[in-house]
Amino acid sequence: MPLEDRGLQFGESVYEVIAVARGDPFRLADHVERMRRGASEIGLAEGVPSLSSWGSIIADLHRHEPHPSAILYAQITGGTAPRSHVPKPPPRPFFFAYLRRFAFPTADATAHGIAAVMLADQRWQRSDLKTVMLLPAVLARKEALARGAEEVILVGQDGFVNEGAVSNVFAVRGGAVTAPPASTRNLAGITGMVVEEICREVGLPFSVGPLAANDLRKVDELFVASTTALLMPVVRIDDFPVGGGSPGRITLRLAQRFRDMLWGPAGPPL
Ligand code: PDD
Repeated sequence: MPLEDRGLQFGESVYEVIAVARGDPFRLADHVERMRRGASEIGLAEGVPSLSSWGSIIADLHRHEPHPSAILYAQITGGTAPRSHVPKPPPRPFFFAYLRRFAFPTADATAHGIAAVMLADQRWQRSDLKTVMLLPAVLARKEALARGAEEVILVGQDGFVNEGAVSNVFAVRGGAVTAPPASTRNLAGITGMVVEEICREVGLPFSVGPLAANDLRKVDELFVASTTALLMPVVRIDDFPVGGGSPGRITLRLAQRFRDMLWGPAGPPL
């Protein structure tokens, strides 16, 4: 990659991480649409390949690297220009993508759940844009790992949960699934969108509403959702157990349905 790529030097870029299961990019159109929205906001819309060309790009990558379980990483940057915060027009966006073999969490890992820590959200105020300015998420997750946890629940200055460091957060209360409202403080997750669809499909009440950090102790179940974690129960936050300290029934049901959508009842090939 050129040294003066604007994604490298300024973080001027948006990216997507897409699950590829059974050779198929999961919810490709939704990922492309989200990338197009983000790219438009930062002046890079021209660089987003059309949906039809994504299909052939991925098919090509897959032919060369036929991994049964993979993620597709795609990024569009502001391209290369002599270093200056504002380059001479016109913008010349640069797009790249690659496939990597990826071990998604097993059903056993999901049945186990993860621990999380709660930290103040130190990111900028446009966390709805999936940019590569990921240092706050990197530092937060390093802290989580150092404390024996996997994920971070990011709490805004208002005391409400925004999302995870690399996932969206969902609570289950009284048999209903709740997610924090869409805002500039969180990413519109594709996995989360599917969570809502599954709830509708199986007749579980789903609502959107603020989730106070203080109330996390009282929820029945808590889980995070992302392309790489799938649906993952959170069984401990900091030093208190969530929902009795083991994954909840509703979370596991949703998680299993999600796995079925990706791989069918057999699950991902080993
Ligand atoms: N991240 N919120 C944040 C901050 C994220 O980084 C992610 C995913 C999500 C969930 O989005 P989706 O369901 O579309 O994957 C929410 C990816 C996996 C990553 O950066 O590796």
